[in-house]
Amino acid sequence: MSNFKKNISQLGAGLLIGSAACAQTPPSAVELVDALNGVFGKQAGTRASHAKGMCAQGAFHPDAQALTVTEGPLWHKTQVPVQARFSVGGGNPKASDKGKTVRGLALHIGSDWDLVLITAPVFMVATPEEFVGFMQARQPDPATGKPNAERVKAFNSATPSTQAQIAFLEKAPIPASYAQTPYWGVNAFVMTNAQGKKIHGRWRAEPKAGHVGLTAEQLAQASDDFLAQELTQRLGNGPVVFNLWLQLAQSGDDVKNPSVAWPATNPEVRMGQIEITGLNNTCEPTMFNPAVLPKGMALSEDPTLLVRAGSYGVSLGRRAKP
Ligand code: HEM
Repeated sequence: MSNFKKNISQLGAGLLIGSAACAQTPPSAVELVDALNGVFGKQAGTRASHAKGMCAQGAFHPDAQALTVTEGPLWHKTQVPVQARFSVGGGNPKASDKGKTVRGLALHIGSDWDLVLITAPVFMVATPEEFVGFMQARQPDPATGKPNAERVKAFNSATPSTQAQIAFLEKAPIPASYAQTPYWGVNAFVMTNAQGKKIHGRWRAEPKAGHVGLTAEQLAQASDDFLAQELTQRLGNGPVVFNLWLQLAQSGDDVKNPSVAWPATNPEVRMGQIEITGLNNTCEPTMFNPAVLPKGMALSEDPTLLVRAGSYGVSLGRRAKP
């Protein structure tokens, strides 16, 4: 299927899921994207969130252990092709790579699985309603062109779910490379194995090249596009590899709230290896839709997951307009 046709069919599916979610949750897919556009403006041709990015390709090598928690044709293959997009959080396509935001890794794995990850173990809020509030609090003040610091502070103190990601980003150094930071899925998914056993899990991609952050001095000297330059150079010397882990929920873990991390002691299953081999320019017009899942995986009841497909579809529709 061509990228265009695939995107249009994803857009349809996304809008359907988005409107189904709206029946239960007040903000619609359009309101969610309006909230993002309200902060970053509508930028022609780019994503409402994670606007700055670069495309790559490679392969996914499934691990046999995955069959303990899931089942489907994917897990019986030795490898499937991957299209990837590394990105900087936020809706500014000219954002600096040095910003204190999350980075993203989005993957088309084979033909029926999109996996979307960020460089924080928790999301910025607990619900779609809070997402809209979070963005509205950050809308630039017309007088200064900048967010009003008092309004942001007031929203954050009134919304305890914002604290975990803020605390994480404050402490975490800026990653030295897209290839030297872990990425988390944050939302829970439901896995079903051949015996019909269901379990909630959350994704984490661990870089084979380790965790490396910039010192304050290195950051001061780095260019605003250093992540893109570094990845281009690194891929010239060989592939970039991540081990893909699934953290399993234990009794009592909150599977609906992506702003709360599960205990680090929870069991994990190594589901496979992601190997990025080179850069290309094919992924920008496509959409990475977290609701595109292979057999043996399903969306959880997390409301911030259920609204994603719809809002990504709205963003795709807006960026596709000339
Ligand atoms: C209320 C929940 C959320 C909303 C409304 C939202 C909204 C959006 C939108 C509109 C886009 C642009 C999509 C496009 O144009 O293709 C996007 C991209 C993205 N989002 Fe979310 N998002 C949400 C939750 C999350 C979560 C929980 C994660 C954590 C993994 C996440 C990670 C990303 C990443 C990495 C991208 C860039 C994907 C790419 O490279 O194409 N988002 N988001």
